[in-house]
Amino acid sequence: MAEKVKQSGGRRIISQAEADALVAKSGVDPTSRTRVGKTRERLPMNRREFLAYATAGSLAVLTALGLGTIVSPNSDDDLVAQLPDDGEWIPGGFAYPRIKVGEFGGKFILTRTPDSYTTEEAPELNAAGKFYVVKVQKDDLVSTNNGDVGADLGDTYLQAIYQVCTHLGCLIPFQSAENRFICPCHGSTFQRSSNYVLGPAPRNLDQFPVTIEDGVIVVDTGKKATGLSHA
Ligand code: FES
Repeated sequence: MAEKVKQSGGRRIISQAEADALVAKSGVDPTSRTRVGKTRERLPMNRREFLAYATAGSLAVLTALGLGTIVSPNSDDDLVAQLPDDGEWIPGGFAYPRIKVGEFGGKFILTRTPDSYTTEEAPELNAAGKFYVVKVQKDDLVSTNNGDVGADLGDTYLQAIYQVCTHLGCLIPFQSAENRFICPCHGSTFQRSSNYVLGPAPRNLDQFPVTIEDGVIVVDTGKKATGLSHA
């Protein structure tokens, strides 16, 4: 029985068999992407395809750069240099702060010479480094939980005392009239050498290591030495 030809909205609707026959008759491979009337000719990349390839390529490059940043250590970084593993790759290396010389957390190179400090003068504040430089007699040297971290000058020592109170973290000023560090928050009081005197603070003021390198004073604010507890 002959297939019934359907009409819809003025268009002739043909069966699948008829469609296949028409394609076969035209000689066009229905699976190939061709320009109408020109069989087997590959079409050039259109704008959408180009953007898709460009985006994918950019993402691949950015991903590679990101992974390199994540796992590759900065060999100039003091904190990375302290890591026990000297390997080329450190997972999570991106998390280590990049601290430069002269920034809190890094090394500070002081301009005054060790001999220019006296044991009588008021502690000298280095605001950027958040520490006071104090010269003390050898007998007045204050040790820390990391041992003696002041610079040995013979009869005297140079100490770098952290400016933050060991009670609740207020910045602590030196009161020259009292010859004491006295915290404005709750009154904790410390000797010029960082020793605890009175108040709610649980321990001496913290210190940073001081070294003399080629006659120059270097304070390393990346290695805080906590003060000894008085309890
Ligand atoms: Fe210094 Fe409380 S924060 S005494």
